[in-house]
Amino acid sequence: MEIQELKLLNFRNYEKLDITFDKHLNVIYGTNGSGKTNLVEAIYVLALTRSFKQTNDKTLIKSDTNLTKIEGVLNNQYKNTYKVIITPDGKKVKIDNNKITKISDYISKINIVLFNPNDLKMIKDTPSIRRKYLNIAISQIDINYLRSLNNYNKLIKTRNAYLKKMYLNGNSLNSYLEVITDKLIEVGLEISDCRRKYIELINSYIGDIYLSIAGLGELRVNYISDYQNKTKEELQDSYKKSLSKDLAFGKTNFGVHHDDLGFYLDNKDLKDYGSQGQQKNAVISWKFSEIEIFKSQKKIFPILILDDLLSELDEIKINNIFKFIDEDIQTFITTTEIDKVTSLLKDDNYKRIHISNGKLEEVQ
Ligand SMILES: Nc1ncnc2c1ncn2[C@@H]1O[C@H](COP(=O)(O)OP(=O)(O)OP(=O)(O)O)[C@@H](O)[C@H]1O
Ligand SMILES: [Mg+2]
Repeated sequence: MEIQELKLLNFRNYEKLDITFDKHLNVIYGTNGSGKTNLVEAIYVLALTRSFKQTNDKTLIKSDTNLTKIEGVLNNQYKNTYKVIITPDGKKVKIDNNKITKISDYISKINIVLFNPNDLKMIKDTPSIRRKYLNIAISQIDINYLRSLNNYNKLIKTRNAYLKKMYLNGNSLNSYLEVITDKLIEVGLEISDCRRKYIELINSYIGDIYLSIAGLGELRVNYISDYQNKTKEELQDSYKKSLSKDLAFGKTNFGVHHDDLGFYLDNKDLKDYGSQGQQKNAVISWKFSEIEIFKSQKKIFPILILDDLLSELDEIKINNIFKFIDEDIQTFITTTEIDKVTSLLKDDNYKRIHISNGKLEEVQ
């Protein structure tokens, strides 16, 4: 798939923008703070209706204005126009000018794999951040997964509210709780099954990709879950065991809402032992694995965005990463160091886009 044209109105530091892209490679360059990340963020928001930054939608609207519009022409099997309109009161999405009421009917249409320096959080930060990354990756290839997640979250809310009520009423045996717990187990198993399979797929690619980029080291990702290798009956038992704790805390202490991922390089946890560069290469290898999964599972060629990937990496690593840039994948690279990029790219067949203070200039 490919984004042919992007139009922005009052998005971050862009007042108005209308640009066409190369169907293969686009190199976006400019000084710090010029608007490179903002531009690729707009593409990401067009696809997923929200930013990859942990930020309120309102921050996407240009200061002193009250509406932002992102519009893109996508060439997939058909040519479609996608629109995301955000105001302080909420957002609307449209495909070919038809309003889409359910966001879940919109977000699996444009597929993106993005690397941003913040993604190192995927290794360094808390399990909830890793679950977020995993959820976004799986939702893009499996709509049912998103439904299961929504169901699960609703069930946890209901169960927690009920636990609080039970605690106040002083009872611990309750058939309604059993009904909710059984439903939770059913949906939790769907989620853990999807996650386990996705990590298996990741592992079928990530080791080789890491090795090609870094030159040495064996990388593996582990799925860590309360539900791992457990049958329905064993899970019912686990919930019974955790009931007194659940009642005391007024919340569900056991389940896939605590799932985590571990990145292991040569059997050592990258979070505790990895260098900055090793962590970065591991995250990049994960992203390229995501692309392989899109290709093999969905026959989809997602859009790849590499935002500020090159800083802190030596030329050998950058060269190794560039080898993964695929003719069939529309790719966006942002950089402050255009000369470094051009000297390492093999052919001249790409579009150069220079940004200065929210204004664009296409350079031939
Ligand atoms: N809502 C907004 N309205 C106006 N300007 C904004 C808004 N949000 C961010 N900006 C401005 O956008 C600029 C940052 O843009 P961006 O993050 O895209 O820079 P960059 O080119 O990626 O820089 P770097 O090379 O440092 O990563 C800052 O000057 C910031 O003040
Ligand atoms: Mg940036």
